[in-house]
Amino acid sequence: MEDNAGHAPVNMKGSVVHVLPPENCDIDILDNGRTIRDFMDTKMKELGSAGIEEPFYVANLDSIFEMNLRWRTNLPRVRPFYAVKCNNDAAVLRMMSALDIGFDCASKGEIQLVLSLGVTPDKIIYAHTTKPVSHIKYACTHGVDTMTFDNLDELLKISLCHAKAKLVLRIAVDDVASKVRLSLKFGARLESVGKLLGRAKELGLEVIGVSFHVGSGCTEALAFKEAIADARRVFDIGNMLGIRMRLLDIGGGFSGREDCQAGFEEFSKVINKALDEFFPPDSRVQIIAEPGRYYVDSAFTLAANVIAKRVIADDMNEHSDGENNCPERIMVYYLNDGVYGSLSCLINDAAHTTVEPYLYRVVESSEQRYQSVIWGPTCDSIDKVTDSCWMPELDVGEWLLIDNMGAYSVSLSTDFNGFERAHIYPVVTAETWSTLNLSDIYNLRQ
Ligand SMILES: Cc1ncc(COP(=O)(O)O)c(C=O)c1O
Repeated sequence: MEDNAGHAPVNMKGSVVHVLPPENCDIDILDNGRTIRDFMDTKMKELGSAGIEEPFYVANLDSIFEMNLRWRTNLPRVRPFYAVKCNNDAAVLRMMSALDIGFDCASKGEIQLVLSLGVTPDKIIYAHTTKPVSHIKYACTHGVDTMTFDNLDELLKISLCHAKAKLVLRIAVDDVASKVRLSLKFGARLESVGKLLGRAKELGLEVIGVSFHVGSGCTEALAFKEAIADARRVFDIGNMLGIRMRLLDIGGGFSGREDCQAGFEEFSKVINKALDEFFPPDSRVQIIAEPGRYYVDSAFTLAANVIAKRVIADDMNEHSDGENNCPERIMVYYLNDGVYGSLSCLINDAAHTTVEPYLYRVVESSEQRYQSVIWGPTCDSIDKVTDSCWMPELDVGEWLLIDNMGAYSVSLSTDFNGFERAHIYPVVTAETWSTLNLSDIYNLRQ
């Protein structure tokens, strides 16, 4: 694994192998002043005239570029390894690679995907503590050596099929302030660290560091401080056993959204202070992290279409008079995307339990608003997008947009009931395209 210095974009000319069909990576380059809005206009017209009623995402790759600048500015000592599970779209992964971001992979499939993009194995951490044996063997034969563990049985498995692995001990940390608590499932307790490190030594395995995850959707910056202090204790136990560790992995849990309780900048200040206290630069410990939602959440906007509608009058008489001057009416809409598709966060992701769809078209302030209920397209009644919002009356065929849809959406959607998954259209400004030499990475004509 590389040190923290020198994050120049990698020139991967000639080394890109497509794991996904190239059409999945088609990128629209916004040149001559074209905006994302212009792109959407064209796309909606195209889909409309082709009679296609599928939802789609616009993936704004410039947003990932900006989030990376923000990361490097605020956390200069921490090298990011993007958590592939969060959004495994090929265009996203190529952008990460262009930005010299490493990858956190959770399985053989994710390792395969990342390697197939031309990424070298030293830029991957296999960050899953309970791995199938066949996946460990795959990592071994493909040169992915850095991997996490948190129990004795895993050590035994690794010693039998990847004895040269560089091991990172994941510890459980206090994650009560997080919306998705991962330490309930993973991580060794501090009391068992000595035994685990001792056993690794007996088996001749190399333990190079410590990792933790404060939980996804972390709301309390001090959780990082406490976890970093816990990691220091583990380093000290290692030192007493003659194990010199050199890597600290502070996991994920960062929010990139402006509307979250405590901003990324505030988190960064707490993290930097704790790192300087417990792992000062002269300790020569390399620091990495596994951010997922931070990088991609705000990059994706979902465009969904109204495919059906019912108007319910206050007296439960479903046959309204069709006039717009009846504020008692409740509007019920059905979109072409829902909780079995892009919006699975509503039932699966405790850190993202509501969405706020808004109309694509310009809404006049004088337009009457109605209480509206929005459902997804499937036959299941759990498939509800929002219980109540106030909107002008929508027609079938109108587009709604939902922002901040990049995290745990694409990678969790299904085609239940035969409704197609939303297509992804990546866009990037011409400026970013040329600054990062993206034609090499995406292997596309300009
Ligand atoms: C091991 C590991 N690393 C990183 C992440 C990414 O977390 P987040 O998206 O909150 O940054 C996860 C999420 O589940 C994870 O399990």
